[in-house]
Amino acid sequence: MLKNLLKKIVLATFGPPVKYVISQMYIYKPVEERFQFLETMLQDAYPDEWVINERSAEEIERIKNIFDLPQDFNTGISKNDLMFRFFIQNNFSFPEAFKAYFVRSVHFLDMISKIAEKKWGKNWQQQAYPFLDFASGYGALERLLVHYLPANQIYTSDIKKKGVDFQVEKFGVNGIYSSFTPEDFKTDVRFKFIFVGSLFSHLPEDLFTRWLKVLHNHLHEDGILAFTVHDTSIINSPEDTVYLTASEDLTSNVVEDAIRKKESYGTMYVNEKYVKNEIAKLGVAANQYYRYEKIFCNLQDIYVVNKQANVFDNSITFNYYDSTKY
Ligand SMILES: C[S@@+](CC[C@H](N)C(=O)[O-])C[C@H]1O[C@@H](n2cnc3c(N)ncnc32)[C@H](O)[C@@H]1O
Repeated sequence: MLKNLLKKIVLATFGPPVKYVISQMYIYKPVEERFQFLETMLQDAYPDEWVINERSAEEIERIKNIFDLPQDFNTGISKNDLMFRFFIQNNFSFPEAFKAYFVRSVHFLDMISKIAEKKWGKNWQQQAYPFLDFASGYGALERLLVHYLPANQIYTSDIKKKGVDFQVEKFGVNGIYSSFTPEDFKTDVRFKFIFVGSLFSHLPEDLFTRWLKVLHNHLHEDGILAFTVHDTSIINSPEDTVYLTASEDLTSNVVEDAIRKKESYGTMYVNEKYVKNEIAKLGVAANQYYRYEKIFCNLQDIYVVNKQANVFDNSITFNYYDSTKY
């Protein structure tokens, strides 16, 4: 009897709001379906690259001038580039999204050039290659990097073949198709500098270990491997690792090459204890790596692993770029 009474009280209290929410869901479902349909139509009918109208062109010119960028750098962005869509999905207008995308490219260049300069000195542009940008997407970095390193010494690799093809065609770099199985990654090139921006921040433990090993094995005897991760402190977790199956790729229903394999690509948080242990598995001494905290987008840490003795320390001042400030 008490149970029945409790049930009645719960229903009387929470029933109406729950019923209201459900009724709203019925109203929104067809609207949502319609939006989905329109987005798919737009994607199918749209040219391969986002159109740059006058307002977007003005923003791009401003960014070129502020950062003294090469006037002729290639500003074409693929419609499949999820890094650009991220800004659109977060309510940036097109001109703002172009600005944010290229400010991010500048941010990449700042990190790469400062790491390379620390390792090779002022003449890094003559030494930091062969260079591999692993998990490069659609070339946010490459479009600028080809103005600082020889394009034929830059290698770009991603699981998304269209992304690799786009970069080979537009920026004249070398392309390597990647795979979900790390051990299938094959090239005879031994890289002086391997950069991995925002991949290890998406990999579950098993793939984290295996990709680190495979990439480290592809380093030149005096090479460096720099990769970014989310630290567990971002989510206040006491665990060494936390893997969530959500990723930006799952938020896009219209991009054909979005990654749907939740077990291979989600969102990963790791602490230094974990990364240190993973690096130790490579046979690298504890003093052969250096961690730069929250450098990438003010969010991700960069770990730099040296094949030889560590040359990295806190003397590098990386810039922080917030596109809304420009
Ligand atoms: C968050 S995006 C970062 C892209 C680029 N580095 C940037 O920051 O603009 C992660 C990239 O990792 C790529 N990726 C995922 N699994 C991969 C794999 N097994 N091999 C190579 N790339 C992979 C995705 O296709 C995606 O382009």
